[in-house]
Amino acid sequence: MIKANGYGHGLSWVIENLYDQPHLYGFGVATLSEALKARIVLNTLQSSLPILVFSGATPLEEWMIEELKKNKLRPVITSISDLKKILKYKIPYDLKFNTGMNRLGIEVKELSKVKKLITPFPPITVLTHLAQAYRPRSSLSQLQKKNWIKIKSEIEICFPEIEFHIGNTGAILKEKIWNLDSLGSIVRPGIGLYGSSGDLHTESSLKPVMSLFAQILSLREISKNDRVGYDGTYCASKKERIAQLGIGYGDGISRLYSDQGEVFHQKKRAKLVGRVSMDLLSVKAQPSWKVGQWVEIFGENITSDEIASLTQTISYEVLTSLTDRVQRVYVD
Ligand SMILES: Cc1ncc(COP(=O)(O)O)c(C=O)c1O
Repeated sequence: MIKANGYGHGLSWVIENLYDQPHLYGFGVATLSEALKARIVLNTLQSSLPILVFSGATPLEEWMIEELKKNKLRPVITSISDLKKILKYKIPYDLKFNTGMNRLGIEVKELSKVKKLITPFPPITVLTHLAQAYRPRSSLSQLQKKNWIKIKSEIEICFPEIEFHIGNTGAILKEKIWNLDSLGSIVRPGIGLYGSSGDLHTESSLKPVMSLFAQILSLREISKNDRVGYDGTYCASKKERIAQLGIGYGDGISRLYSDQGEVFHQKKRAKLVGRVSMDLLSVKAQPSWKVGQWVEIFGENITSDEIASLTQTISYEVLTSLTDRVQRVYVD
């Protein structure tokens, strides 16, 4: 899955690094505009890998049909009305069922109707999405699994050429408990591709693909009782050295990180002090720090999951919140 600018990493770079991996089935995006960008990159690489459009081709409109056809994009069909439209135009498509997450997807009770409808022009793949993939034993996961087994078994009898997929990163990390092999032949990893398990409580040996650094713009000594940043929320209890880093919420660092986050530099952690502002972050500096040096915000030493837990979100949001202002530097 490479939606949301390859989870913030840069769509083109992600495609260029993955497209020739053995066993890669194709790419998944959310919107049509993401799909068009992905197709341009793949054309340049002379690759005809499929691009599945997960939510951007619904409700299906006339002009989209043209775009899908012209650019060889596969819409993920999520409703009976869109299914009827796509069948008229005979554009290769994929079909999503709602097994209990109740976002997008055709209801399980429509299964017999769907089987009849698709007979003249079946989908390439059939899929569903899991609401709690990290908790394979939860009642919601069990409900989804039961519904999925019904869908899969009924469809595969009539349409043996169709492939099935259900698993995202969480399901892949818990594949044994899910018995994932029995649930499909394709998986759809997103966050895992970028080196996060996506869940603080799920251990993995994944390594982060991205590290975020900010430069030390200034260093100053402050005295006991001096305050730092907007509203002066931080008050020094003794003489201290404060660094200003050139990063802030304008780059995608949550204001919830104010007064509680940490950064990493010269083998040590350092505490954020005061509010995160639009362009600046204040931290307690070590005597050895120098203006111009680069400090890790997250990466090898501080994970996006850690930031996520302190800012009441998930690593997905930490990564995809990074704005265009953050310069992406790609290293081999
Ligand atoms: C339909 C679908 N499949 C797969 C994924 C990938 O999920 P993850 O990033 O948890 O691996 C997503 C992401 O939200 C999704 O919407």
